[in-house]
Amino acid sequence: MKLTIIGAGYVGLVSGNCFAEVGNNVICVDNDKTKIDDLNNGKIPIWEPGLEEMIRRNSEEGRLSFTTNIKHAVENSDICFIAVGTPPDKDASADLALAKTELNWKAERSLREMCADSWRWQVKNPEGY
Ligand SMILES: NC(=O)c1ccc[n+]([C@@H]2O[C@H](COP(=O)([O-])OP(=O)(O)OC[C@H]3O[C@@H](n4cnc5c(N)ncnc54)[C@H](O)[C@@H]3O)[C@@H](O)[C@H]2O)c1
Repeated sequence: MKLTIIGAGYVGLVSGNCFAEVGNNVICVDNDKTKIDDLNNGKIPIWEPGLEEMIRRNSEEGRLSFTTNIKHAVENSDICFIAVGTPPDKDASADLALAKTELNWKAERSLREMCADSWRWQVKNPEGY
């Protein structure tokens, strides 16, 4: 499947790489251009045993790519995961502002279309895949 992971941090980068490792085509998006440039140059911003080598292999084999272009990524994916930060709010609840911004951001139309397509597909194929 074609997947997009929005937010290439601890969660997004590791899960995106693991999805690629099992054969999916994954685009990791982040709004931190330096991070994306580093990833495209093989520099991994976090330390996890074996991650750097796996990311390099999946990138070289064309299953994993990194971009700041959310619109392109969303429009070329079957499923999108949002993995941006949710720091504690004043009352210690999760601050969902970044995730909500993401949903309302440039990809809004594409995400809405994807949800509508998915719904239409499910109505036509009630027994699933
Ligand atoms: N790290 C963990 O162990 C862990 C465990 C369980 C749940 N979580 C949850 O997973 C989510 C992500 O956590 P994390 O630790 O990976 O965070 P992180 O801060 O390491 O990564 C978040 C990434 O999102 C990017 N980002 C922020 N706004 C963006 C935007 N508008 N568009 C694109 N990219 C954007 C940041 O640049 C950053 O690279 C949070 O909700 C967190 O609570 C994390």
